[in-house]
Amino acid sequence: MTQLSLSPNDIDLTDPEIFETNQAHEVFRMLRREAPVHWNAENEVMRGFWNVTKYADVIAISRNPELYISSHGITQMEPVIKNPMDEVMQGFGKMLITTDPPRHVRLRRLVNKGFTPRAVGAMEIHIRDIVTRILDDIEKKPGVDFVTEVAALLPLAVICEMMGCPRSDWNLMFDLTNKVLGGGDPEYQTDVPEAERGTVEAARQTITSGSMQMFQYWANFIQAHRKDWKDDLVGLLIEAELDGDKLNDEDILWFAFLLIVAGNETTRNAISGGMLALHENPAEKQKVLDNPALLSSTAVEEILRWTSPVAHMARVATRDTELRGQQIKEGQRVVMWYGSVNRDEDVFADPYRFDVTRAPNDHLAFGIGEHFCLGAGFARLELKVIFEELFRRFPDIHVDGDVQRLRSTFIGGIKHLPVTYTSA
Ligand code: HEM
Repeated sequence: MTQLSLSPNDIDLTDPEIFETNQAHEVFRMLRREAPVHWNAENEVMRGFWNVTKYADVIAISRNPELYISSHGITQMEPVIKNPMDEVMQGFGKMLITTDPPRHVRLRRLVNKGFTPRAVGAMEIHIRDIVTRILDDIEKKPGVDFVTEVAALLPLAVICEMMGCPRSDWNLMFDLTNKVLGGGDPEYQTDVPEAERGTVEAARQTITSGSMQMFQYWANFIQAHRKDWKDDLVGLLIEAELDGDKLNDEDILWFAFLLIVAGNETTRNAISGGMLALHENPAEKQKVLDNPALLSSTAVEEILRWTSPVAHMARVATRDTELRGQQIKEGQRVVMWYGSVNRDEDVFADPYRFDVTRAPNDHLAFGIGEHFCLGAGFARLELKVIFEELFRRFPDIHVDGDVQRLRSTFIGGIKHLPVTYTSA
């Protein structure tokens, strides 16, 4: 593991190794103390941007979508050498998450119905059935990779079923999501010759190829759906109207792309990260075993705060402004590090303690403001049900091998997590 220099001048948060080797929290702690709004200098690949690490600043940015917009990019990645296709591929101004008011709220209203507390609550029994099937499949095995055989399967099943995606294509959606969101990790760069994996170019090729395959899949799916309408999320979007007009295929395609990508890897990593945190804090795990009701009250929220599966989201300033004394220039990016703000000493008592009874716990793992996570209700329910069922059936489940983290500055991910257990 490379030893990090902990001086603001040397910090470059475009380096995925900081996250892969689990050193980001050390960097964040130093930045919050010494340079809470920190200029990340341009390097040979990416333009410079502001690292924002304090809770109050992330709230201020997220609550001002006129000053800090989403339609010019929501990740730190702004290549030095611009490719006009980058903007098209990221759906600037088209996809819900990369759209600004007033279009944003109108788009969001179209799908809200599928994500209300009532819609989420109605899925609990079904989600428990899915979990039961997943756990039945691992019951006879002495141990499994918790990520691929448990954590990944639940959010994949839930979002694919909501979209109407047939079971035979779920593995494809898993692979493509890994490429789109985890394309910087050599393990997912399978479309690139082995000798070239691990480079910036390999990451770019993987993300592009994963996105293109995802677009192709959903373009075909939407066309088939127009001929043979079904009552699922894509069906809802086909019927929907925006300002009196039906949505076109491109509009629906962006929704499908976003929902599959956003609904999948994020929840997977909250589940895997939660498993790891409970294993590393046996007294906290014991509290959940003794009192599973904690999962409905405080434990799931603490898992979300602790894991912060979306490492960052970015915004672009629409005019010159000031933040905590720093001069932000029009067109510059501000990158909001959720993992940092969720351990901000000004907001959370003893923030480096994983505490399943923590209250209050106003973490920002789902963001805040206009773009607050649409799927938060589903993610919370999936976390609650999977840990309830898991600990009921395998109370001694524990990590038994090396944790492999995702090489990514965007998703706080775990790729592999060996576990062993005996049935209760
Ligand atoms: C633990 C799991 C999850 C985490 C940590 C998470 C995190 C986030 C965050 C931080 C944002 C804010 C984006 C911004 O401010 O720019 C967001 C937005 C979003 N999330 Fe999630 N998410 C999770 C699960 C899900 C699920 C299960 C779905 C779908 C079923 C979903 C769909 C979305 C969508 C559509 C948006 C965009 C909302 C908008 O732009 O109005 N997410 N999510």
